[in-house]
Amino acid sequence: MIVCEGLTKTFGSITAIQDFNIEIPDGRIFGLLGPNGAGKTTTMRMLSCLIQPTAGSAHIDSYEIGKKEDAQKIRGMIGLLPEVPGLYETLGAYKNLDYYAQLYGIPKTQREESIKTTLTNLGLWDRRNEPVGGFSKGMKQKIAIARALIHDPKYIFLDEPTASLDPAAAKMVREYILELKSQGDTILINTHNLSEAERICDTVALVKNRTVKVGSPKELARGLFARTISITMQKIPPSLLKDISSLDFISQAQVNGNQLVLNVRNPEEDNPQVISWLMKQGLQVQFVTEEEHSLEDVYLKLIEEGGR
Ligand SMILES: Nc1ncnc2c1ncn2[C@@H]1O[C@H](COP(=O)(O)OP(=O)(O)OP(=O)(O)O)[C@@H](O)[C@H]1O
Ligand SMILES: [Mg+2]
Repeated sequence: MIVCEGLTKTFGSITAIQDFNIEIPDGRIFGLLGPNGAGKTTTMRMLSCLIQPTAGSAHIDSYEIGKKEDAQKIRGMIGLLPEVPGLYETLGAYKNLDYYAQLYGIPKTQREESIKTTLTNLGLWDRRNEPVGGFSKGMKQKIAIARALIHDPKYIFLDEPTASLDPAAAKMVREYILELKSQGDTILINTHNLSEAERICDTVALVKNRTVKVGSPKELARGLFARTISITMQKIPPSLLKDISSLDFISQAQVNGNQLVLNVRNPEEDNPQVISWLMKQGLQVQFVTEEEHSLEDVYLKLIEEGGR
């Protein structure tokens, strides 16, 4: 479990992140979202024991970040994909991975096997001996992801893992992240890709040098937007809009073509009442769907519009 309490980092007069409080239970995927300069990388670097917090605390299991005697233990439990891959450019892909595997004390046969599997999965086995300095941005990113996972860490920190990957590689990485979760690993991910975060994250924190909001993408959307249902009917009589507004749980109603769009309090309870009311009027309902608000809608409202 990762717990941050009042975690704060300042660089001179710049506050990168202030009073950051989160709890990430084991086996979850947690996303940090926010504009450039919001403090996402800084937070991840503190949790990876690369920089010291200015104030507050963070624990990974029972170990405290920033505490000298715990740093070694934490480094063994975590795998970090940094914002910039930082590989040994003159070394080949295989040697880059093997070097890190040796640092973690992984035995030779296990290293050989795991590096071969990883490089094959990434489509880079044939290029294993080429210096990574000549690799494309996405290829370097793939090697850096492999490096972060080489010692099978329980906590995985990924700073924009799919930023430079092609669509197929990005999909592969997302599927891999979900597979790691299914094995019980805990993943913290920084991303600007909101549809990716919506698809894979259990919980997200929207940050802008402080916490703006934390919750599951669905919870955040429900807290911000009225729940809207759309009812497709064969025919909508002109008087319907006025008549249906008499139902007290409908806060707003409009007609779009052959669709009746209603803001309701709680679709699970209200939909059956609406449908039976419509049927009593002799009208035929073809489909009922709920309008989904995306994480992008949530982000734009909370971060860009400064709404709450
Ligand atoms: N080593 C440093 N020295 C001085 N300022 C820094 C340092 N590291 C980060 N900052 C500042 O802290 C703030 C947060 O930066 P950070 O890299 O954490 O943002 P971010 O959310 O990761 O942004 P991005 O989405 O662009 O990656 C920025 O104003 C940045 O300039
Ligand atoms: Mg960053």
